[in-house]
Amino acid sequence: MPVLGAALAELARLRVFDGLTIGFRLHLEPKTAVLVEGLLAGGARVVAMGNEGTTQFGTAEALSDRGCEVLDRPGDGEDAVGSHLGRIAAACPDLVLDNGAELIEACIRAGRAPKGATEETTSGAFRLREGLAEAVEFPVIVINDSPLKAIVENKHGVGESVVDAIVRATNMSLRKKRVVVFGYGWCGRGIALYARRRGADVVAVEPDPVKALEAAMDGFDVDTPHGAVGSADVVITATGRERVVRYELIETMPDGALLANAGHTDAEIDVVRLEREAPGELVSPSLYAHELAGGRTVFLLAKGRIVNLAAAGGIGNPIEAMDLGLTLQARSLAVLATSAGDFRPGPQPVPRPINEQTATAMLESMGQTPA
Ligand SMILES: NC(=O)c1ccc[n+]([C@@H]2O[C@H](COP(=O)([O-])OP(=O)(O)OC[C@H]3O[C@@H](n4cnc5c(N)ncnc54)[C@H](O)[C@@H]3O)[C@@H](O)[C@H]2O)c1
Repeated sequence: MPVLGAALAELARLRVFDGLTIGFRLHLEPKTAVLVEGLLAGGARVVAMGNEGTTQFGTAEALSDRGCEVLDRPGDGEDAVGSHLGRIAAACPDLVLDNGAELIEACIRAGRAPKGATEETTSGAFRLREGLAEAVEFPVIVINDSPLKAIVENKHGVGESVVDAIVRATNMSLRKKRVVVFGYGWCGRGIALYARRRGADVVAVEPDPVKALEAAMDGFDVDTPHGAVGSADVVITATGRERVVRYELIETMPDGALLANAGHTDAEIDVVRLEREAPGELVSPSLYAHELAGGRTVFLLAKGRIVNLAAAGGIGNPIEAMDLGLTLQARSLAVLATSAGDFRPGPQPVPRPINEQTATAMLESMGQTPA
């Protein structure tokens, strides 16, 4: 990750995070670990936890050896998340890096006000702008609002890696399969694009008529949930919203159809109700068969968790996308460390100079030159 490497070397040289505690919550895997190492090298104390189901414990152990306080343990139960969030909030972080806004919420509930925070996801940004709108009294830079991240990570990185993860975990070709994508936002656009490149016939389900028109102009069919799902081979959610695919809709899926989720939460597909009505049977690593009333079977990948990380063999976004996204994180945390007072409270976009600096660095890493 040359772009991140150069940024972290600069921040370490300047000791930007000297004496600061950073509460860190992001998938703990080798690529995000590079960012943690860079924050430590910049002088920070880092107290870290991952997101449910995606922590790689070899990585967690390596980070502990390097001085990061990692809270995740193998075999952590359901209540571990709340406990870890509370412990990070209790450490009074000066800066917070969050992925879903739960850590920011835990800090607010504990009466802590960090200097500033970054939020990685669309889902977290929704929570900050809706449920927590009045409560956030410090600046939160929403990395996902960066046009750079949207293009490089959400569209191309997620698109490529979600389609790859599904193909790898199922050993299925997408050629002439009917792939229904819920949400024609940044991730959905990419998933639709890369599924088409593998020969799929893609249908977009998108309530925003402007984005639905974009999907149609991009050459995809656009349909209602019921219209699309009734003949689907594969249904992929990418909305950032909960229970987008309800049980009643799953009941209309053809025999043998597959469900997978690319969104941040594991609640986009109503897995709770599906599990209650038609308990899943593990048929191959991370692939569950659910027999519906009437004898039809639908398959669910990775229990509806974020498929490009949680499915068997899923290794997340391509490293180039992570190089860019993590650089935006590092530079946003650095600007909050040095000049949080220049920002207004509440969620806000990545500052333009950071976008331009990072875009230029990525173009250079690709051997390209802007005009
Ligand atoms: N898998 C990954 O590695 C990865 C990476 C980045 C983001 N994400 C997650 O993917 C999700 C989508 O992110 P995004 O950047 O594409 O967001 P986005 O806001 O650009 O797109 C979401 C789209 O879903 C649509 N939508 C909302 N409700 C819907 C419904 N009921 N049915 C169909 N469509 C609906 C919205 O109109 C919007 O167009 C988020 O949860 C985000 O956190 C995942």
